[in-house]
Amino acid sequence: MTLRLICCLCFFLAAPLSAENSVPDPAPAHPELRPVLDDFGGMPGLTALMDTFMEIMLEDPRLRPFFEHTENDRIKRQLAEQFCVILGGDCVYTGRDMVESHNGSIIDRADFNALVEDLQIAMDRHNIPFRSQNKLLAILAPMHREVITPKAE
Ligand code: HEM
Repeated sequence: MTLRLICCLCFFLAAPLSAENSVPDPAPAHPELRPVLDDFGGMPGLTALMDTFMEIMLEDPRLRPFFEHTENDRIKRQLAEQFCVILGGDCVYTGRDMVESHNGSIIDRADFNALVEDLQIAMDRHNIPFRSQNKLLAILAPMHREVITPKAE
């Protein structure tokens, strides 16, 4: 009897809590994009891409302030993992969710656009086909909701 009561209580308490606390998946997987992952050169290609991407951001006065004092080896690794999962790879994303990852900085729409621009430059340098670049960017675009600081829009 006591056990049944505890089970009922757990159900009613857990359901609303989990709904309220649910955050969008930081790496929504798209298995159909596996051929796109091949265009990126799989995980090794993504790892090399992140080196170039971070170099470009650190040379960009719009973005350097965000990344000059951060743990960039970890960020690059987590970005590569995240993109690999998004593109349907057999990878695991070990980073934090997007809100938690970004709530230490004030990020506005111009910052977001600058980062996307630098990612495009990095992808061009790595000869990623335009079509595949756009597939990835289409998935990243709606993430602005979790990345841009509320009221900084
Ligand atoms: C779709 C766009 C974006 C994606 C997918 C993304 C993804 C990520 C990921 C995976 C991490 C590492 C997570 C972790 O620490 O566990 C991260 C960290 C970070 N991102 Fe982003 N990001 C995006 C946009 C931006 C923008 C626009 C900025 C600022 C201009 C930014 C600044 C940062 C900073 C400063 C960190 C390090 C935070 C820290 O270590 O405390 N990100 N991001």
